Amino acid sequence: MRSDYSRTAEGMLILRAIEQYLPENRRIIDDPYAAQLLINSQYRMIAASSVLSQMLSGFLKFWAPGGQEMLTIRPRLVDDHARELEAKGLDQIVLLGAGFDTMALRLKSELRNCRVFEVDHPATQVEKVKGMNRIGKPGNLVFVAVDFEKDDFAEKLKGAGFDPALRTFIVWVGVSYYLRPQTVEQTLSRIAALGGPGTHLAWDYMLADVVDGSSKDLDALDKRWRVAALGEPWLFGLKPEDFPGYLDRFGFRLIRDYESLELQQLYCPDRRRPMSYVRIAFCERI
Ligand SMILES: C[S@@+](CC[C@H](N)C(=O)[O-])C[C@H]1O[C@@H](n2cnc3c(N)ncnc32)[C@H](O)[C@@H]1O
Repeated sequence: MRSDYSRTAEGMLILRAIEQYLPENRRIIDDPYAAQLLINSQYRMIAASSVLSQMLSGFLKFWAPGGQEMLTIRPRLVDDHARELEAKGLDQIVLLGAGFDTMALRLKSELRNCRVFEVDHPATQVEKVKGMNRIGKPGNLVFVAVDFEKDDFAEKLKGAGFDPALRTFIVWVGVSYYLRPQTVEQTLSRIAALGGPGTHLAWDYMLADVVDGSSKDLDALDKRWRVAALGEPWLFGLKPEDFPGYLDRFGFRLIRDYESLELQQLYCPDRRRPMSYVRIAFCERI
């Protein structure tokens, strides 16, 4: 069992933290909480300094082109979707593999009537709980510690107060590619069984040719190697053309599968094209 918190989850935090130093009209997501949750002392030093943050943003433009854009668009897009669903009536949100995401804080007022369940590996969640207690954990936030490879998260969620009869939005981003294909299938089957028809799911997936190494995208292959060196290799991917059929097997219909050019137009037309080897999709249980 992994005994330390997820470094890739903390990577998402530092990206949102340095994003805050960009002028408002260029910033993709507002997240004043990200810097406060950082654990790594070098990251904390960077996030405390406008100069160092802008230097890191500059470095990332070359080292991981479009990475800062894509990985700040992802939570922003999910927030926007959550707001939309909330306006129509939403009772609960489940963040599967929540990491250090701060949606419960970012949307504290919009989601005040909605319960937010954060499900994550205990090794990461223990650090998240410490950080959220320091900042001020919203009363509607519930933590559920789960190892997807071993535990039935649906049972654990129900044990924590999740009600399958209520209107639900499940967010499963930044996670599936770190899991074995059979774990992804098992997780999707459990998601499908968990909520009834009308349950919404946000899910991002990695392109299959990046995971199997046959992609021509050298940046993607470089990142594939680097996450493996961090002990969190990418194990699962899909081809976009196979995606609707894959979802269908689990009783989901695809609403929208966003690719990077579309996301650039929506959120950062005057910035770099977001990295294109991860796609973000919204689906509904039929
Ligand atoms: C890249 S992070 C993404 C975090 C968050 N969803 C975000 O977008 O900022 C991957 C997350 O998946 C979680 N994860 C990976 N393998 C897991 C497992 N076997 N069981 C539970 N959580 C797992 C990690 O703990 C981590 O929080």
